[in-house]
Amino acid sequence: MTKIRIAPSLLSADFSRLGEELRDIERGGADLVHLDVMDGHFVPNLTIGPAVVKACRAQTSLPFDCHLMIAHPQQYIGAFLDAGANMISVHQETEPHLQRALRLIRDGGAKAGIAINPATAAESLSAAIEFCDFVLVMTVNPGFGGQKFIEPVVGKIRLIAQMIRERGVAVDIEVDGGIDRSTTPLVVAAGATILVAGSAVFGQPDRKMAMEAIRNSVSVRV
Ligand code: DX5
Ligand code: ZN
Repeated sequence: MTKIRIAPSLLSADFSRLGEELRDIERGGADLVHLDVMDGHFVPNLTIGPAVVKACRAQTSLPFDCHLMIAHPQQYIGAFLDAGANMISVHQETEPHLQRALRLIRDGGAKAGIAINPATAAESLSAAIEFCDFVLVMTVNPGFGGQKFIEPVVGKIRLIAQMIRERGVAVDIEVDGGIDRSTTPLVVAAGATILVAGSAVFGQPDRKMAMEAIRNSVSVRV
């Protein structure tokens, strides 16, 4: 069975206690930390930048997965690498030189990801998928935590999984938005192996139990 990795999104954590929140999910069995970077241009919200990522880096040994929802992402890749990112994804919709951006991330020693919005077609990955380590498929329109999962995106995950198999490339599929124990079986059956979960983890008092509930939903229903 394919290993599923859970990446709690810090966006739904208590921002006044980030160090404790990070230690809590590490103890609870998280595989990665998902950090949402928003600029108020590409998405209608503002969140954190490299300084906060760097401060968090000292608080946990979990790998950092930085999701850049910003205009001109290429300009900031170096700053996030320096801050300690282990994975960086850039949105295809805002990066006109995608292969170059992915190369920069890999040259900096991190895993490179292409993020796509719910309305962006699977076929749009065709010329770049060989250059990335993972595809981040948004299952909500990015900008906020706690939004409703967009179910038709499941078909697109299936198409991307098929493209990966046909090309014979080692690319993971990460899903982000509205992931909880009811949507997890759908996305995992379609081919997702990295699950971002914000409100479904940090919105619960017991984060370990919340992550176990997500993991168990796979073995029970798939
Ligand atoms: C949304 C962000 C997500 C967000 C997910 O734009 O990219 O990572 O934190 O939150 P939930 O899991 O609550 O939908
Ligand atoms: Zn995200």
